[in-house]
This record gives sequence, structure tokens and C-alpha cells, in this order.
Amino acid sequence: MENLDKLKEEILQKISASNVLKELEDVRVAVLGKKGQLTEMMKGLGALPLEEKISAGKILNQIKGKIEEALEKQKKILEEKALNEKLSRETIDVTLPIRPEHQGRIHPVSKIYEEVAAIFGEMGFDVADGPDIEDQFHNFNALNMPANHPARQMQDTFYLNNDPSKPFDMDTAYVARTQTSGIQIRTMEKQQPPIRIIAPGRTYRSDYDATHTPMFHQVEGLVIDKNITMAHLKGCLYDFVKAFFELDELPVRYRPSYFPFTEPSAEMDIGCLKTKTELKIGAGTDWMEILGCGMVHPSVLKAGGIDPDEYQGFAFGMGIDRLAMLKYGIPDLRTFFESDVRWLKHYGFTPLDFSSMIGGLSDKGGLAR
Ligand code: DAH
Repeated sequence: MENLDKLKEEILQKISASNVLKELEDVRVAVLGKKGQLTEMMKGLGALPLEEKISAGKILNQIKGKIEEALEKQKKILEEKALNEKLSRETIDVTLPIRPEHQGRIHPVSKIYEEVAAIFGEMGFDVADGPDIEDQFHNFNALNMPANHPARQMQDTFYLNNDPSKPFDMDTAYVARTQTSGIQIRTMEKQQPPIRIIAPGRTYRSDYDATHTPMFHQVEGLVIDKNITMAHLKGCLYDFVKAFFELDELPVRYRPSYFPFTEPSAEMDIGCLKTKTELKIGAGTDWMEILGCGMVHPSVLKAGGIDPDEYQGFAFGMGIDRLAMLKYGIPDLRTFFESDVRWLKHYGFTPLDFSSMIGGLSDKGGLAR
């Protein structure tokens, strides 16, 4: 009897010391399996006299019951432990976003810059730069707009004193550049032909309504080489507008116009359909002005230090904000500069939405936004 008690304690001890299910199962087999300790003992009961058989059988059954109970209890504990371990190994953090979240947006003006640069870049143009605060020589005089030239009044100019220690002098004052055309001169001063540049930048005029803001954006273009003709201008700009509006066919026309720095001068129109609610580019019979252009005036070439007898060129200039309004259907120019993040979220572009002639300008086949 004493031995049995000891045995029971030993077995119960082993059960509660089992750390994994396999270990527990081994204990069970060793005790209750076909050849288990307790099974063997029960088998041995048959050889005992009846009285002893009954009392020993009773005790063994009690022990067996206790052991089974303990096995069951420990099994539950270990199963739960195993499950918890498995769960903690397999956790996924459901609070992580499923894809990168783009917080910032590219402003439509920056987007159009990128698009224009991608198109002209493909044609072999470089991007040139110039200062926002410009002298009158580069902004006006060298562009064939000398003092008192009536064309200066076409552009309401912000003047800035160039020497704060002296009273304001209209003749020497700087200007907030009214056009990017001055970069034509700055480029010619630095570089001999062949020249092929575009020059994007901010421009300033005293103007404010739904289609004019005191600060706006232009892109200038300049090509100078030997034997450049109006046909080069037309072909280049035709290719540009088709690429820009992402259309295979787009009717265009050139209307005679006047700019002091080009001769002859023209304005380029694109064919469209205009109704009160809709603007469809490339359809219908209406025309819309899109840019100014012309053959660079010989006086401008001279002012830039280039011999007009040897070289010719064409130039063009266009309003970036207007292009953005047209291409992306934005009705009021003033909203461009209100810094309203809801506006930017609606009209802006994701930083990954990169413009290229190979990957596409704006149409990313569903990847965009
Ligand atoms: N500078 C002109 C403007 O601001 C635009 C322009 C027209 C630029 C014709 C040019 C050009 O280079 O050839 O209205």
C-alpha cells in the first residue's frame, strides 16, 4: 500500500512537471499504455486471492482515476500553452497601412512644369533659369522694348528700387520680371548657338481676377541655330501640344500677332469644343489661344551678342497656370495660390506620379492618385 501511494505521487509529479504535450503523452503511455506500469499491475490482480483482488483492484482503480484526471487537466493546460505560443508567433499587426500612404501632393503648376520639361527634354532642350528680380535691360530693353515703348504699358509692372540709399529712380529701378523672355537674353549672353532651351519661372504683373493673379507662371522657349525657319517653329510646337494634351490628332492654327521681340509674331490656337459646362480639346470648331511665338527679332539677337546674319531662331512663351486650368479642368486661377490643402488634395498629384514621355505624362493607367 505504501509503495502504491509513493508510485501515485511520483506519477502525479511527472504529470505536473510535463512541459509539452509530447512529454505528457510519454508519461501516459508509460503508466496507462498497453504495457504501462499501472496496466501491468492491474493485469497482475488476477493472480491474487479474491479478497485481496477486490481491495487492491479498488485502490488501483482509484489511483488510475486520479492519474487520468491529472493527465486531462495537464493536457488542457499544455494545449492552451501551445495555442498561445502559436498565436504569438503568427501575429500580424493589423494597424499597419496596407500600402504606402502619400500625404503630400504635387501642385498642378509643378506637375505642368514637369510635363513640359519631359516633352521638350525628349526633343533635346535644356532647362535654363533666370532671376525673379530682373533689371530693365533683360526684362525690356534687350527684348526690343526700350523706355517709352508702348508695349511696356501692356504689362503692368512692379518696380523695385535698386538702391535703397537713394530716392526711387524709374530709369534704373529693378522689376519683378513681367515675363520669362528675359531668360532668352541671359542664355544668349552665356552661350553661343546652337541654343535649345526652355525656361520655366514665376512672373509678376499688377493684375487680379479669375484668370489673372499678380504672380503667375510662364515657360519660355528659345531655339537658335543656322537656317532656322518658321517651319521649325510650327513643327516643334505642333508636336508639343499633341504630346501635352496627350492626343494623336489636334487641330492647330497660327494667327499673325505682335510681340516686340519677334518678327514675324504669331499666336497659336488649338481646336476645341467650348460649351458653358464643357471644354473638349481636339473636338468641335472653336479655337483657343494657347501661346505666343515668333521668329527672334534681329535686334534681340544683337542684344544677346549673336550675329543675326549668321543665326536665326524662334521663340515662344506660354502661361503654365492657364495650361493647368485647361488640362486639369480647374476653373479659377486664384485658387492655385490659396494654399488650401483640400484643394491640393483634390487637384494635386501624388509624388510617385512622375511625368515622362516613356511612362506617360498624366495617365498612369490607374496607378495615379
Ligand atoms: N513674353 C510674352 C508674354 O509674356 C510671351 C511670348 C510671346 C514669349 C512670344 C515669346 C514669344 O518668346 O516669342 O506675353
